[in-house]
Amino acid sequence: FAGNNSDFLKGVVAMDGLPPSDRIEVCFAGRSNVGKSSLINALTGRTRLARASNTPGRTQEINFFTLADSHYLVDLPGYGFANAPLPVIEKWQKLLKQYLSGRASLRRAFVLIDTRHGVKSVDEEIMSLLDSSAVTFQVVLTKADKVKVSDREKVLEQVRKALSKHPAAYPEIVLTSSEKGDGIATLRSIVATLD
Ligand code: GTP
Ligand code: MG
Repeated sequence: FAGNNSDFLKGVVAMDGLPPSDRIEVCFAGRSNVGKSSLINALTGRTRLARASNTPGRTQEINFFTLADSHYLVDLPGYGFANAPLPVIEKWQKLLKQYLSGRASLRRAFVLIDTRHGVKSVDEEIMSLLDSSAVTFQVVLTKADKVKVSDREKVLEQVRKALSKHPAAYPEIVLTSSEKGDGIATLRSIVATLD
């Protein structure tokens, strides 16, 4: 990346708030608490850029971050947060659908899956939404530091099996730990090579 300057640009609550699609854009989707904000912090090397928290559903807006002068990193609201009121959930689902299907500069969606938990039904739903939106997506396993190396192959196999059913899936799975730094350089270079 040219320079390594990252910054928070804006939080968006409706389609008309989106910044112009003038940069390469990638988004991060995943269940509440899976580690989306932490991953964005690890990728940008700024520990408090995206707010990470123990409270699931903390990220309520579509948050845009700049990476170098060329990319947007987009932190999507966590899904599967059952405690939110239904109208709030429905509003977000609508916005998410609109964003995923209507964003010309969106090059790839990273679907984050907790290495301890594997693919859940809400993850399957988002993958199907990405299929129908024709957005290539790639699975990033998070919190790998919490799973023994010997137990990782089982979850990888479960994810591979799930991916085989999704035409928009990119086959390579990236194992990461935002805490320990595993996989972060790999993911950064994947983002850097998208054009
Ligand atoms: P929402 O915005 O609520 O959807 O959550 P999020 O997906 O942005 O998760 P966030 O980054 O806020 O992380 C949730 C919790 O998991 C925090 O307590 C983080 O410190 C922790 N966490 C995130 N990544 C890792 C990791 O790689 N390893 C470990 N051990 N903990 C992590
Ligand atoms: Mg978050």
